Amino acid sequence: MDDVLILGIESSCDETAAAIVKNGRTALSNVINSQIDIHKRYGGVVPEIASRCHIEAINTVIDEALKNANVTFDDIDAIAVTYGPGLVGALLVGVSTAKALAYTLKKPLVNVHHIKGHICANYVAHSDLKPPFICLVASGGHSHIVYAKDYLEYEIMGMTRDDAAGEAFDKIARVLGLGYPGGPKIDALAKEGNPHAVEFPRVKMAEESLDFSFSGVKTAVINHIHKLEQKGEEYNKADIAASFQEAVTDVLVSHTIEAAQRKNLDKIVIAGGVASNSALRDKMEKTAKKYGIDVLYPPPVLCTDNAVMIAAAGYYEYVSGKRADMRLNAVASLPL
Ligand code: KG4
Ligand code: ZN
Repeated sequence: MDDVLILGIESSCDETAAAIVKNGRTALSNVINSQIDIHKRYGGVVPEIASRCHIEAINTVIDEALKNANVTFDDIDAIAVTYGPGLVGALLVGVSTAKALAYTLKKPLVNVHHIKGHICANYVAHSDLKPPFICLVASGGHSHIVYAKDYLEYEIMGMTRDDAAGEAFDKIARVLGLGYPGGPKIDALAKEGNPHAVEFPRVKMAEESLDFSFSGVKTAVINHIHKLEQKGEEYNKADIAASFQEAVTDVLVSHTIEAAQRKNLDKIVIAGGVASNSALRDKMEKTAKKYGIDVLYPPPVLCTDNAVMIAAAGYYEYVSGKRADMRLNAVASLPL
């Protein structure tokens, strides 16, 4: 079969991204225009500003993705775009752009689920990775344990009942005055702290459930800090960051290992922004090793939002014959 080149477009949150991927596995370019510097003034993503920034950036980002891959629109076989879940105004910029390109260039259009994209980042990072495997997808918007049966078939085994893991990292970082996005800041500060300084709660839902809940640990950390402040006591931010991270990663790891055991699988993959957390990677690898389970994850640039992952997921949809048409719309909340 001839090589298949997919142009991926991603604009679901605060990154405007475009990439060219060959055969679902090789990234020829990966252009990401991050809006972090703009949103950090407000302590989080402002949806209206995100949409406007996407509009300003998207054409240049796509041009750059073609240029860096040394290809033109003529070389592209299909256009893959994130259509949900995400911020609807932000998603619409990518979806409208992809539709306009598909229509004028007469190229097939493929709609991609953002979470499937995160999972498929691993196909680019690990060229011999094949399903089935268990994937923990932990990002600013989602915390899912997914059973990837096949390239196109997924089953959710557990998900968060309240906050996403990354959201909890961002909130605690804000309380500690570390800035936005909080995950990388907590990750770095935690290296200087004692993860057992404070035993924050690890929430387990019903015995058989693999669902997560992070609002309890978040409230526990905030209450802990407030109590110390009321007493006028000094507290060690690094210890709190490390103890919070320990509580969150303990639950993420134990549920993911449990999922792999239930499906009798010896392969765990992690994805999403939180997958770049060093404590999570370490703990997942060490714990999985005890059970003879391998752990794979992408490099940080493919963990946070990017379009390589969208083009990779789009490739499997494209070769299976899936196509979207000009009625494609952005969908803010979209089941897997
Ligand atoms: O996947 P992503 O870019 O966007 C969503 O789809 O949500 O994930 C962003 C999230 C943010 O909450 C950020 O704080 C978190 O991923 N994150 C991390 C780390 N790097 C990014 N969380 C913990 N440790 C990190 N090193
Ligand atoms: Zn994401």
